[in-house]
Parts: sequence; C-alpha cells; structure tokens
Amino acid sequence: MNSNARNGTLLLLGATSDIGGEVAMRMCRGRNVVLAGRDRERAEGVAKRLLDAGAATVRFEQFEAADLESHRPLFEAAGPVTTAIVAFGVLGDQERAESDEREAARIATVDYLAQVNALTVLADTMEAGEIFAFSSIAGWRARRANYVYGSTKAGLDAFCQGLADRLHGTELNLITARPGFVIGSMTEGMTPAPMSVRPAEVADAVVAAAGRGRSATVWIPRQLAVLAAVMKLVPRPVWRHMPR
Ligand SMILES: NC(=O)c1ccc[n+]([C@@H]2O[C@H](COP(=O)([O-])OP(=O)(O)OC[C@H]3O[C@@H](n4cnc5c(N)ncnc54)[C@H](OP(=O)(O)O)[C@@H]3O)[C@@H](O)[C@H]2O)c1
Repeated sequence: MNSNARNGTLLLLGATSDIGGEVAMRMCRGRNVVLAGRDRERAEGVAKRLLDAGAATVRFEQFEAADLESHRPLFEAAGPVTTAIVAFGVLGDQERAESDEREAARIATVDYLAQVNALTVLADTMEAGEIFAFSSIAGWRARRANYVYGSTKAGLDAFCQGLADRLHGTELNLITARPGFVIGSMTEGMTPAPMSVRPAEVADAVVAAAGRGRSATVWIPRQLAVLAAVMKLVPRPVWRHMPR
C-alpha cells in the first residue's frame, strides 16, 4: 500500500459489527475513522476502543444500509477513504422467511442488494487501499436450513470475484472473507459448528491478506477450504438434511 493509502480515512459500514470492529482495531492507528451505523449509543463503545488503539479521530454517521441512495453521499463525505470495511449484515429468520416474503426480501436487501450497492460506490470512489467484504461458507453451497442467507452470500461472493478481477492492476484491492461459523452477536444462542472461530481470528486473517498488497479470497480458518471441497460432493438427498 502506498503511504497516502495508509493515511486515508477508515470507513466501517456496520459500526457495531463484531468482525468489523476487530478489523478496524487492527488498522486504525493514526487515522481518521468514520463509524457508519444505526445505533450511535452502542457505537460509542467501539469509538472508545478505536481511540485507545490509536485512531486519530473517530466520528459517527447515521447509516441505514437499505437506504441505497444514501450510500454515495455518505461515503464521499467520509473521504478520502482508503480502507472500507463492509461489515453490515443480518442472519435473518429463515423459518419466517419461508412464509413471509418481507423477511426474505429484508435479508436479500441487506445481505446482497445493499452490499452490491455499497461495493460499487466504494470501488468507484476509492483510488487506493483496500475494501473488506464478508462472504461466508453459507454461500458455498446453499443449505435447506438457511438458503435465504446462503443465497445472498453466494451472490455476493460471485460479485466480489468479478470485482476483484476488475480491480486487478489498480492500487485498490478487495479482500473477500469466507468465514465459517463465527462466535459472536450474529450467532448468539446457536451451538458453534466445527471449526468455529472468533471475530479476532477473522480480523487477523483478512488484515494479513490486505498486508500482502493484492486482492485475495480468504477461508477462515484456512482448513475450511478442504471442508468446502467435500461439501460440493455430498449427494443432495444427504445434503438436504444438513443442519444450519
Ligand atoms: N458471525 C458469523 O458467523 C459470520 C460468518 C460468516 C460471515 N459473516 C458475515 O460477516 C459480516 C459481519 O458479521 P458480524 O459477525 O460482525 O455480525 P454482527 O456483529 O451481528 O454485526 C452486524 C452489523 O450489521 C449492522 N446492520 C444490520 N442491518 C443493518 C442495516 N439495515 N443497516 C445498517 N447496518 C445494519 C448491525 O447494526 P445494528 O447493531 O444496528 O443491528 C451490526 O453493526 C456479515 O456480513 C456476516 O454475514 C458472519
């Protein structure tokens, strides 16, 4: 990364995201940080941790991801952004989404449409640095038990692969994370799946990838890539019964 890129603004979309906060902690030293989120009060704790970690300034901006028109003005006002962490997202209620199309559309809007909108604006407005996007193992092969969320991650992952190729040869890199089960707010109350990780481990992996100075797709933990390869081979009558 060139020195200008290292000094630019860090924009966290999803101010209270467990994973996003951990990534920001690792990249905020000496930089101006913009926390874009829905809950100013809860973002205050994040702001304090980032200032303790060496951020030069931290400011909060109201951000509703589903308000697509708001993305461009908000991101432009935050700039010049050289690190963007696109960490907003919802797991949603799969059971409800099966009979209530509004829930299915809410998940699709936040986890796919708004991600595509935000990533498009970021790629258009950022000149150098890195964008972090969060795909998931859930998108690798959709499961009956969470196919609404899984389908958004499949779409987002495909978008990110294409965007990374488009950015090839520029000074802007896209780090696409493919975590498995992450123990945190999003999965609260759920039994951790095999190879579960914590937000800090996700952050360590993606920040290390960004440090290599090129776009990358990162399985977290790394061994998940092996499980992913096996997942594609499981016959559908068996796959159908896989738990969430
Ligand atoms: N946790 C996992 O197991 C896991 C695994 C693989 C991938 N991922 C992905 O990693 C990313 C970060 O996840 P996380 O674990 O850090 O989740 P998290 O701690 O639950 O944080 C999600 C963030 O998204 C924000 N958000 C939700 N809906 C929003 C909306 N409509 N507008 C603006 N902000 C909104 C939340 O804000 P509020 O506090 O206002 O709701 C919160 O800041 C997500 O894309 C997730 O799908 C997570």
